[in-house]
Amino acid sequence: MWGVFGRINNVKRTGAFVRTATARKFSRAHILLASVAAITASLLINGSPILNDVSNRSLDGVEVDSAITPFETYFSSKQLPFLSSDHKLIASGVRSVTFMGFKVYGVGLYISAKDEPKLKSVIQELLKENPDHTVKTLLDDKKLSQDAVDKISQVVPYAVRITPIRNTDFQHMKDGLTKSILANPMAKEFRDAVAGGVEELRTVFQNFRGSFPKNKTLWVISDTKSTKLHNNVKDEQDMGQVGEQIISRVLLVSYLSNLQPLSKPLRENFVSYVTTLVD
Ligand SMILES: *[C@@H]1O[C@H](CO)[C@@H](O)[C@H](O)[C@H]1NC(C)=O
Repeated sequence: MWGVFGRINNVKRTGAFVRTATARKFSRAHILLASVAAITASLLINGSPILNDVSNRSLDGVEVDSAITPFETYFSSKQLPFLSSDHKLIASGVRSVTFMGFKVYGVGLYISAKDEPKLKSVIQELLKENPDHTVKTLLDDKKLSQDAVDKISQVVPYAVRITPIRNTDFQHMKDGLTKSILANPMAKEFRDAVAGGVEELRTVFQNFRGSFPKNKTLWVISDTKSTKLHNNVKDEQDMGQVGEQIISRVLLVSYLSNLQPLSKPLRENFVSYVTTLVD
């Protein structure tokens, strides 16, 4: 829903021309004609960014960038056997290199619907401890958002999907991940654990070299303790795992907290999702 919000908000801001372009994108994503009609009608009639749940559920993908296939909003464990249960997309966005706004990859966060109550209760506890805060101010606060996401990472299994927008290679994927982990302030706080985890991560990538074409996907999957990696560059391929728990914590904090989020759109999308979940 939040992914859709992002797009609809753009439509609202930029007016009729983009409205047409967006409709075209929706159909490219094989979205049911009926829902396109419903969305377009709702925009034309009241300009409202609010879509009802029924029309959202009929969308089967969120377009993150035109260079890559829309992100599926839902996977059953049969579709992706390396996920231990069904997973739904709760936030998506693009990672850009800060200075030029150069887009690097699309990123999506999936969790199992059955774990949503755990995520919700982490936030509710923190709101109780910090009664002056709302979900939004809590998740916008650097320290509190770090606490929140760190706690979530320890109780909610998650899968992060990383889909490059430009052709790249495994070396860059590995460097991107390790640099992001080491740049996180938690890397100082948990120096030894992080160093050990990064070493494990490098070992996982040792057997994977060569190109990583755009529109292929690297999955980073946490069971709240260890972190598995998987890619579909040639075939579906399990790459191995990092046993050091700190890696799954630091990665989620790097994506979702407001310390120095790797993708602002992803973080904002996550805030909208949590707001809807908790309110
Ligand atoms: C991306 O890959 C999928 C298959 O995984 C394919 O159906 C789709 O056309 C590709 N999209 C682009 C923009 O290359």
